[in-house]
Amino acid sequence: LADVVLRPMRPDDVERLVQITAETGFFYKEEVEVAQGVLEEAAAGEASGYQVQVAVQNGDVAGYVCFGPTPLTRGTWDIYWIAVDTHHQNQGIGRTLMQAAEEAIGAQKGRLILVETSSRDLYEPTRRFYRAMDYKEESYISDFYDVGDGRVTYTKALPWGGQQEMPP
Ligand SMILES: CC(C)(COP(=O)(O)OP(=O)(O)OC[C@H]1O[C@@H](n2cnc3c(N)ncnc32)[C@H](O)[C@@H]1OP(=O)(O)O)[C@@H](O)C(=O)NCCC(=O)NCCS
Repeated sequence: LADVVLRPMRPDDVERLVQITAETGFFYKEEVEVAQGVLEEAAAGEASGYQVQVAVQNGDVAGYVCFGPTPLTRGTWDIYWIAVDTHHQNQGIGRTLMQAAEEAIGAQKGRLILVETSSRDLYEPTRRFYRAMDYKEESYISDFYDVGDGRVTYTKALPWGGQQEMPP
């Protein structure tokens, strides 16, 4: 994993991150458009509810992870998007991005992480990736995204364990 550095996203990263998302070939046009909207909001700051870490390898932006606290929960977080440029995949960048997200979430008192994906065959490598990251397949809803395209939700509990102060 030579020369990979992580840093928070900057507004001038949006275009490249959208390109990476589209070029994976994993996302429908509407999904890429939603990802673009999310990245634009995230670029505006943390008040958006989105945080994005970018991986840079030898000066090239190679991937990103977008995550944020799940609204109306105490300590549950969602990883909304993760994508690594096709030329940079299978070198450990995805793992590094997931670890960075987990560290940031733990540092902000997150205790449970959710990540969702599709049950389609195309996403079998993605599901293997989440299992390799020690995520547990916690729920499956068939025909969720479309007929024949179910939603799989993976979870990971962080060791921190939820010692968050209860709000009034
Ligand atoms: C999923 C994705 C983010 C993984 O990133 P990556 O940089 O290729 O993954 P890594 O090299 O860090 O792999 C980490 C582990 O996952 C596993 N893994 C990753 N890709 C895999 C594949 N195609 N097949 C099998 N296992 C895979 C490896 O076993 C690896 O384990 P190891 O570190 O013990 O060797 C990337 O492949 C991607 O962008 N895919 C397309 C978009 C996508 O599916 N995003 C998620 C949408 S929900």
